[in-house]
Amino acid sequence: NLPKSVSIIEVGPRDGLQNEANFITTEIKKEFIQHLVCAEIKEMEVTSFVSPKWIPQMQDAAELIQSCYSSIRSIVLVPNKKGAERLLATNCKSAAVFVGVSNRFNQKNINKSTRESIVEIRPIIADLKSKGFFVRACISTAFYCHYEGAIATADTLALCQEFADAGVDELSVADTIGMATPAESFSLFSTLKQQLPNIMIAAHFHDTRKMALANIYAALQAGIDRFDTSAGGLGGCPFVPGATGNVATEDVVYMLERMNIKTGVKLDKLVKAIDIIAPHLSRKIDSGYYQLTKKR
Ligand code: HMG
Ligand code: MG
Repeated sequence: NLPKSVSIIEVGPRDGLQNEANFITTEIKKEFIQHLVCAEIKEMEVTSFVSPKWIPQMQDAAELIQSCYSSIRSIVLVPNKKGAERLLATNCKSAAVFVGVSNRFNQKNINKSTRESIVEIRPIIADLKSKGFFVRACISTAFYCHYEGAIATADTLALCQEFADAGVDELSVADTIGMATPAESFSLFSTLKQQLPNIMIAAHFHDTRKMALANIYAALQAGIDRFDTSAGGLGGCPFVPGATGNVATEDVVYMLERMNIKTGVKLDKLVKAIDIIAPHLSRKIDSGYYQLTKKR
């Protein structure tokens, strides 16, 4: 009973680039994004209104979002009130708030406890929703945490419920350190679908241990039809030592299309987008699909 079609939420320009030490110019980022739009990506985390001291790569967020790519759902990450104010000064109408189930991760990532973050974010969600925004909540360390180890499923479910009650449109539930197994993916996403039938749920897998595609297959079986992916498999959270990128968009699209599950994404154009960004990265792109296109 797999879905007939799936939505891909491209997070390359945000999650993918935030970990890159060398600053990539705004022009190159724009070109990358434009090529992703040409590849028929319809939803994208474009950038983050976070502190440039914490994430220097995102210092050009305001300039980047000016173009706003209004033909697609352009999402900007917002960690706090200041981020929300910066967002409200733009034409962008979609936001992502983010919080970790793990308190220690949240402290490293946002300099607050999980509870303090929720207290700050709740009124931001209410304000953005009253102004007609699409709001997603990224739930980090939903399975495991680098600092705290295994996360109690009950804690993840409770946090998801709290954000659903706060009025978000979507939860993006993340395996931040890429340690979940397909059994854990199936179990958590099945429970979430049952517990929260009226909210959009996306799965956000990092491919640190190369289990992301298997985890996506398990999440599909649990009824999930929205996946965060990153062109070229770029990225990782700067506050997770050894973090690697998200599952590569091209590998996910290839797998799903071969399974007759429509994504709408054009693989040849996606490869062109990766070609744009690849020369500016400190790492090599090692996704299976992209590498194969270079060997032909
Ligand atoms: P802080 O140092 O506690 O903040 O950081 P503060 O309120 O004390 O402010 C310190 C300075 O930052 C001040 O400037 C503020 O104005 C400025 P100064 O007076 O020193 O010149 N500032 C800001 N500037 C621009 N935009 C803002 C902003 N806020 C404060 N919004 C803070 C707290 C939340 C700002 C910081 O910890 C931060 O920016 N964290 C972001 C970290 C981040 O982006 N992590 C990666 C994204 S999450 C992720 O990757 C996980 C995900 O992919 C899912 C998964 O895989 O798990 C979503
Ligand atoms: Mg991530």
